[in-house]
Amino acid sequence: MTHSHDNAPGPRQAKPALLITGGTGFIGSHTAVVLLESGYSLVLVDSLINSTREVGARIAQLADLEPWGDHLWRHASGSPWLALLQGDVRSARDLDRAFSLMPNRIAGVIHLAGLKSVGESSDEPLNYWDANVSGSITLLRAMEKHDCKTLVFSSSAAVYGETQEVPISESAPLRPTNPYARTKAAIEQILQDLAASRKGWRISILRYFNPIGAHPSGMIGEHPRMPPTNLFPVLCQVANGSRERVEVFGDDWPTPDGSGVRDYLHVLDLADGHALAIRALLEGNAQLTQLNLGTGRGWSVLDLIACLEKISGRAIPAVIAPRRAGDVAVSVADPSRAQAVLGWKARRGLEEMCRDGWAWFSSSHGCSHD
Ligand code: UD1
Repeated sequence: MTHSHDNAPGPRQAKPALLITGGTGFIGSHTAVVLLESGYSLVLVDSLINSTREVGARIAQLADLEPWGDHLWRHASGSPWLALLQGDVRSARDLDRAFSLMPNRIAGVIHLAGLKSVGESSDEPLNYWDANVSGSITLLRAMEKHDCKTLVFSSSAAVYGETQEVPISESAPLRPTNPYARTKAAIEQILQDLAASRKGWRISILRYFNPIGAHPSGMIGEHPRMPPTNLFPVLCQVANGSRERVEVFGDDWPTPDGSGVRDYLHVLDLADGHALAIRALLEGNAQLTQLNLGTGRGWSVLDLIACLEKISGRAIPAVIAPRRAGDVAVSVADPSRAQAVLGWKARRGLEEMCRDGWAWFSSSHGCSHD
């Protein structure tokens, strides 16, 4: 197999079947398109609490697949195929159905299903421990049962918490500061224990920084649980007139313009990272690897506002507000390990993130939850 210089996971050729939990979510839908385009067949399992069945059809359309049955699509040549199953990762029965849905053996799992709102996690910690940690344990047991020990796990830069070191490397201490981040750190620990049990697990833990943007078609994107609290969807709402202004949480951080700095990355770069990670595991030996996925470059709140104003041609009124509890001044990845291990590098810049994200939020699909 030839390795190209960019992140492209290779030409479309028949590849094994994979299972994606949370497959119709923001990251799942983009990852599904990239994987189908490179030839993997997919079973998507999603509870649909935060997405819709319609996303399955849009993924199929973007990957040039045709309807083939009930929530089933395939390429004209017969492969790859795509199946969507409504199911909950806490249900062993749902997972059994997912593993047995198609005759092909599932070669690997990309586990994205989970709850991800920091504020909500402090109000409803049991829901977070149950969905994220119990869900992961149920999934890992199902994987053992079906003899599938290849896993890409969706973690978060939130596991680092208040680290002193910037840019942040994977060896930085984990000091999660909220229940959401603690569930991610706990699952990482479980995966370490599993890998140490020497049962042949191949595991890649991906720690995402701040994914934004969308597929440039405007057909898939982020459906924030309402009301959104992350900066990018909030800015899009202000730009499209459904929110009056954005509150900038602090202008006295120790950063060049006083507002918080984050490592925003395009969701399609993140999707490429998943495709490269699963390929490396399928081709590799038993292992457990933690990888940061970020650009290595930081942008402030005010930078992002200015960029989206330019791209959208809309004014984004902003007021300075007090700091938000639990925020840090700067969160920027050292992504060098992902480049060394996977050959992955974020290719898309801030303007592309804003352009594609705005295309989604200003489309009828992106507004449908507003
Ligand atoms: C947040 C979570 C993080 C999670 C990630 C998922 C917190 C503390 N962290 O990251 O655990 O993995 O989302 O996407 O919630 N901001 C404003 N005004 C707003 C919203 C945000 O000024 O209305 C600022 C924030 O202070 C921060 C930056 O924008 O400096 C980015 O915020 P956000 O998009 O919420 O992401 P994080 O807080 O980095």
